Amino acid sequence: SVDVVPQAPEDPLFGLMAAYREDTSDKKVDLGIGAYRDNNAKPWILPVVKKADEIIHKDPEVNHEYLPIAGLAQFTSASQKLIVSGDSPAIKEGRITSLQTVSGTGAVHLGALFLAKFYQKVYPKTALYMSNPTWANHHQIFSNVGLSLQSYPYWHPQTRALDFDGMKASLESAPDHSIILLHACAHNPTGVDPTPEQWSSIATIMKRKSHFPFFDCAYQGFASGDLAKDNFAIRHFIEQGFELLIAQSYAKNFGLYGERAGCFHFVAAPSSDAGERTKRVGSQLAILQRSEISNPPAYGARIASLVLNDKALFSEWEANLRTMSGRIIDMRKALRGKLEDLKTPGKWNHITDQIGMFSFTGLTEGQVAKLRADGHIYMTKNGRISMAGLNTKNVEYVATQIDKVVRD
Ligand code: LMR
Repeated sequence: SVDVVPQAPEDPLFGLMAAYREDTSDKKVDLGIGAYRDNNAKPWILPVVKKADEIIHKDPEVNHEYLPIAGLAQFTSASQKLIVSGDSPAIKEGRITSLQTVSGTGAVHLGALFLAKFYQKVYPKTALYMSNPTWANHHQIFSNVGLSLQSYPYWHPQTRALDFDGMKASLESAPDHSIILLHACAHNPTGVDPTPEQWSSIATIMKRKSHFPFFDCAYQGFASGDLAKDNFAIRHFIEQGFELLIAQSYAKNFGLYGERAGCFHFVAAPSSDAGERTKRVGSQLAILQRSEISNPPAYGARIASLVLNDKALFSEWEANLRTMSGRIIDMRKALRGKLEDLKTPGKWNHITDQIGMFSFTGLTEGQVAKLRADGHIYMTKNGRISMAGLNTKNVEYVATQIDKVVRD
């Protein structure tokens, strides 16, 4: 009977959003959910998205039919080119199969299902290793399909930077053929990424240990403003001959949060039968997709596809990406600068060293609670702030409030 169903806790992030909305203070600041805001703290519709939207609305060929199970073909092929780069031998050799998904979450879930159904059969004792910390939703997506979870050290609280030695040691001691979940760029929640040299060492260890990489890529182009810089790790691992999975989201880099546009990719290792293996994997993924969602939602994929496949619109998109990443970098400088001007105890260089949507401030749970109660400033309990919630009008206020709780 359903009487045995216990009450589940509210999702912490969406709960935080609801609490912010209910707060009637005119001082309130939302540094919670990872969604871009402009300098007026408002959601920003990318101009290129607006343009694509108008083109679609005028197109007499557009209708409301089902998409194929694997999604819009022009979208998945353009997504491949974007995520591994157009000149990748993996594309030329037919070693990638891609399915359009319900944003990045859907892609992570499809990959999780695939691993649980097939990879775990071959390696029944395998565990999936995720960074400590990682995006909160990763835990439940992977445990829901029955994969056992482990973690590798990632964040070093004292240096407020990457615990590279801890990470390497953990990858070394994990049993061979472990699944390793990696954030391709702009690590959520820490904003700390390995350098290219560190990625190369990670790949070397993982190759030796026959670990299986699963990249979650939610911030390509949004992190640095440079699409090629932000897919460096994925390209490097493909060059090293790995077989791997990729979850790709268009929520942040297109500002298409509600449309749920994303893509899942399986990349086969180079071998004489790689093309045939890729087709077999694709056929199984299609069955999983059909049973889960039948076929993906069309609207967001149409917008992204139009932009990705048109040279002029693509350049406009790159300019829009630079607008977003540039404003965030300015806010990093402003927050660090104000804290240093106030001589707030501690070091604040990590705010400008970190990259992407978030800064992992190092504020304690108690300080976070105080900022919310006294300052009406909302952030996740672990001290993560969404940099996009800061603007030229509130950054000074936020710095002053942080200064206060740090001195308390
Ligand atoms: C976040 O971490 O804030 C975003 O990725 C939104 C989400 O779905 O959790």
